[in-house]
Amino acid sequence: DYRFQPYRTGYHFQPPWHWINDPNGPMIYKGIYHLFYQYNPKGAVWGNIVWAHSTSRDLINWFPHPPAIFPSQKSDVNGCWSGSATILPGEKPVILYTGIDPDKKQVQNIAYPKDLSDPYLKEWVKSDKNPLMAPDNVNNINASSFRDPTTAWQGPDNIWRVAIGSKINDLGFAILYKSKDFLNWVKAKRPLHAARHTGMWECVDFYPVAPNSHCGLDTSTLGPNVKHVLKISLDDTKHDYYTIGSYNYTTDKYTPDKGLIDGDAGLKYDYGKFYASKTFFDSAKSRRILWGWINESQSVADDIKKGWAGVQAIPRNIYLDGSGKQLVQWPVSELEQLRSSPPINVFDKRLEAGELHEVTGVTAAQADVEITFEITDISKAEEYRPRWTHAQWLCNTKNASVRGGLGPFGLRVLASSDSQEYTSVFFRVFKKADNKPVVLMCSDQSRSSLNEDNDKTTYGAFVDVDPIKDKLSLRSLIDHSIVESFGGSGRACITARVYPITAIEDKARLYAFNNATEAVTISTLSAWSMKKAQIS
Ligand code: FRU
Repeated sequence: DYRFQPYRTGYHFQPPWHWINDPNGPMIYKGIYHLFYQYNPKGAVWGNIVWAHSTSRDLINWFPHPPAIFPSQKSDVNGCWSGSATILPGEKPVILYTGIDPDKKQVQNIAYPKDLSDPYLKEWVKSDKNPLMAPDNVNNINASSFRDPTTAWQGPDNIWRVAIGSKINDLGFAILYKSKDFLNWVKAKRPLHAARHTGMWECVDFYPVAPNSHCGLDTSTLGPNVKHVLKISLDDTKHDYYTIGSYNYTTDKYTPDKGLIDGDAGLKYDYGKFYASKTFFDSAKSRRILWGWINESQSVADDIKKGWAGVQAIPRNIYLDGSGKQLVQWPVSELEQLRSSPPINVFDKRLEAGELHEVTGVTAAQADVEITFEITDISKAEEYRPRWTHAQWLCNTKNASVRGGLGPFGLRVLASSDSQEYTSVFFRVFKKADNKPVVLMCSDQSRSSLNEDNDKTTYGAFVDVDPIKDKLSLRSLIDHSIVESFGGSGRACITARVYPITAIEDKARLYAFNNATEAVTISTLSAWSMKKAQIS
């Protein structure tokens, strides 16, 4: 029965029904936030792709508009795929997007707002010069691997640049195009960056970040202290990877910092389900905001049954960590308006070995929970083996039921009262030979549902914090079928989709747990029931 909808979200963005994927062209214009996204107006599976459109004043409550960009030209008859917005001088937004042409070739098109005095930018017109960039016989571009233009940036030479994802065999790269007028684009001789064994780069994102600051930078900002981030979405693994590095605009080359790796051995934005993400500079609040698509863990048959598939993650503030070695992400503060006040609080509680502490008084299926743990003694931690470099593997091997010295401890969410179904988001602290701690964060979905058709992959990440010096923090945004978790104040993020059969709506429970052999102290726990956002 499609009216039985216990898995629809209360505050994560989703349209009333049908399939969605990548966030597209996010921007702020005249104080209004715009979100476009890949949408199938006809069903719960991928296909018939248009740019659906919603606007907001706070990134949390949304108002839907008719699709903004849909097939209407030769250069996009077979689909309007992902792309980005650029705000041209004089507050003039434009969109570059990938169109699928009559020969199923991927080409890049431009669209302009019809009426700049409409802050909702409801109508878009396409240039009759489209496509602006196309694979041809001489430019050596693979016509089925040429998509997803970035937000463009302008150099001090006034020339615009845009990057487009591509590949040749397993060599992934970002093709660079340049233009003086944003209409006539010329392919640069060399790509912005390339990396072997990465395959197709989808939804490339390229932007500057400021050291030692939570502030965002406009995409065209350059400067001696400015670092750049290159994010690639790898089709082969369906994860978003990034490096931090330097961009030289005279050679138009991007070089990752020493020790940072492109692709699967490198850093991920989110170690769970989070893909095809895109950032934009929020000029109203001087911050950079990250949008990402949370893909499904249900079977296609179940997606069709429930009539929808895919949601967008809560927009995240994204900035460079003080170490300069990684990014930090945190849900935008506007989300906190949905917290019912006051929260349920726990202070200074000792969680005994094996203890399960129920947090009552919150709507456990729609909640925001923050917990911090205090660790004073590393001596009881398990010894860390140098070959345990793969966090996800380690979380699989040492799942929530495997007892260690310090951990697993954390949150048990979307749990049934009889412990038949639950998702465990937890830490495990190890010690190295020199007694230095290693913190592992896991999201264990293996017991999340009695439905055997779901993808219940367990995810893991190392968290770069010292739990002896700093408190170890975890925040989980629980939203019916979503568990979006931030460890170490946003240094490691893991998002999961879970579909419990019994632990739904008011039958869902929330616990703090400690399955270690040693006690651990909860210094603070705050749990809020979350109000419903106005979305569709
Ligand atoms: C990423 C992606 C993009 C493409 C779009 C099509 O999920 O495959 O590369 O433009 O989705 O919907």
